[in-house]
Amino acid sequence: MSDTVSNIKEPQKGSRHFRLAQKVVVVTGAAKGIGRAVAVRCADEGAAVVLVDRDAKTLNDTVEELKARGGENTGYSSVSGDISDESTIKAMIDAALERHGRLDGLVNNAGIFGAYNRFENNSTETFDQMISVNLRPAWMAMKYAKPAMLASEGGGSIVNVASMAAMRANRGLSLYGMTKGAVANLTFNAATEFAKYNIRVNAICPGPIDTDMLGTVEEFIDGRHSDVSRAKINETIPLGRYGKPEEIGAVAAFLLSDDAGFVTGVRMPVDGGQSLE
Ligand SMILES: NC(=O)c1ccc[n+]([C@@H]2O[C@H](COP(=O)([O-])OP(=O)(O)OC[C@H]3O[C@@H](n4cnc5c(N)ncnc54)[C@H](O)[C@@H]3O)[C@@H](O)[C@H]2O)c1
Repeated sequence: MSDTVSNIKEPQKGSRHFRLAQKVVVVTGAAKGIGRAVAVRCADEGAAVVLVDRDAKTLNDTVEELKARGGENTGYSSVSGDISDESTIKAMIDAALERHGRLDGLVNNAGIFGAYNRFENNSTETFDQMISVNLRPAWMAMKYAKPAMLASEGGGSIVNVASMAAMRANRGLSLYGMTKGAVANLTFNAATEFAKYNIRVNAICPGPIDTDMLGTVEEFIDGRHSDVSRAKINETIPLGRYGKPEEIGAVAAFLLSDDAGFVTGVRMPVDGGQSLE
C-alpha cells in the first residue's frame, strides 16, 4: 500500500463533470488499460478512488497521473496486491472505509485473457487460474462491498467488466468466455438480491478495446500491432475501429453515477456494434 490522500471534493451542483463528487470508488486492475481509464475518469468526475493492481510500479504511474490531474482535491489511495488473494479484496474495501470514510462504487475490472487453446488442451491448472483471477475476486468483492455500502448509506453501484465473450462462443477462448459468462450471471443475481438496498449491479461487455490485452488477439491473427491484424479485427466492427479505454471509462462513470439510478442488472455491450453482425 502506498499513498493516501483522503479529501473528498465538495459537490459542484449542476456540473455534469462532478457526477461522482463525494463518492468513493474502488477500481481493480487500475494500473493500465481499461482500469486506468476508469480510475482517471472517476477522479475527473470528482470521486475519491482506491486503485488496486498487482503491478505496483505501473500502479504508481497511474497514481502520479491522478495527482497531476488534481487528485489531491478528490482523494485517492492505492492498494498493491493480487486480487486472487482474499486479503487484497479485504484490503481494498477496508481502504475505502478507513481512508475515505465510505464506499459507493466498485469496478471489478482486473482480468486476464489466457492463451488461445483448443477446448481439450486446457489444463486443470489453467482452468483454476482463470477462475481465480477473472471470477472469484469479482464474487468476493461484491460480497464484501455490500455491507460496506450499507454502512455508508445511500446505496451503491457495482460495475463488473465482463466481455462480449460472455455472450457468444469464441473459438480457442472457452475458459475466458466461461469466466466472463459467469461474471455476467453473478451480475444478474447480485442485482436482484441487492436491489432492495439500492445497490445497483451492472456489467459492461466491451468489444475490442485498444489495450495490451488486445495484443494477444492480434498475436493470434498476424502479430501484435500488425496492420493486418488490426485491419482484420476492424472489419468485424461496424464502427470500423477499436474502442478506446476512455470509452469504457465513460460508460463506467455513467453506471456509477446517479444518472444511472434506475439501471440495474444490464449487460451493456460497448463494442462499436460488433455484436450486431
Ligand atoms: N481489451 C479488450 O479488448 C477487452 C475486451 C473485453 C473485456 N476486457 C476486459 O477488461 C478488463 C481489463 O482489460 P484490459 O484490456 O485493460 O487489460 P490489461 O491487460 O491492459 O490490464 C489489466 C490490468 O489488470 C491487472 N491485473 C491482472 N490480473 C491481476 C490480478 N490477479 N491482481 C491484480 N491486478 C491484476 C494487470 O496488472 C493490469 O494492470 C479485463 O477484465 C478484460 O477481460 C477487455
